[in-house]
Amino acid sequence: TQRTLVLLKPDAVRRGLIGEIIGRIERKAGWTISALELRSLSQETLEQHYGEHKGKPFYEPLVAFMSSGPVVALVVDGERVIEGIRQLAGPTDPIAAAPGSIRGDFGVIVRENLIHASDSEESAERELKIFFPNLV
Ligand code: GTP
Ligand code: MG
Repeated sequence: TQRTLVLLKPDAVRRGLIGEIIGRIERKAGWTISALELRSLSQETLEQHYGEHKGKPFYEPLVAFMSSGPVVALVVDGERVIEGIRQLAGPTDPIAAAPGSIRGDFGVIVRENLIHASDSEESAERELKIFFPNLV
């Protein structure tokens, strides 16, 4: 079974979509939330988390956006949860995301795409250490 890191981005929190999005995750059979916290992300945390994008044109605005308000960070455990939550989220560009997906239903702007979810087992392991270093 897998474990993944999910962030409900500041736009999701501001727009009152926390319950809506967590509800979709909760309703999937057999997935369990094992950590959940509202928190403001430091520049250091964001630099570690989005290090792969450093130097790209969207990096600075992305970090500014991600620190524009609190996020909800959660850890979800379950069968194929990494691929599963990426599927629930939809593609990065919300206009390309199908209706029915989180980004497809609620997003318009690429940067303000509501949710982050680890994209592979390696990413999940790396990101979980950044956000929940003490989780067993
Ligand atoms: P995350 O779950 O947030 O990592 O999204 P992702 O895995 O779907 O996309 P990726 O890791 O490639 O990019 C991280 C974030 O940077 C995206 O979620 C967007 O918010 C933003 N981003 C990525 N590509 C672009 C782009 O071409 N333009 C803009 N403005 N933002 C981008
Ligand atoms: Mg990503």
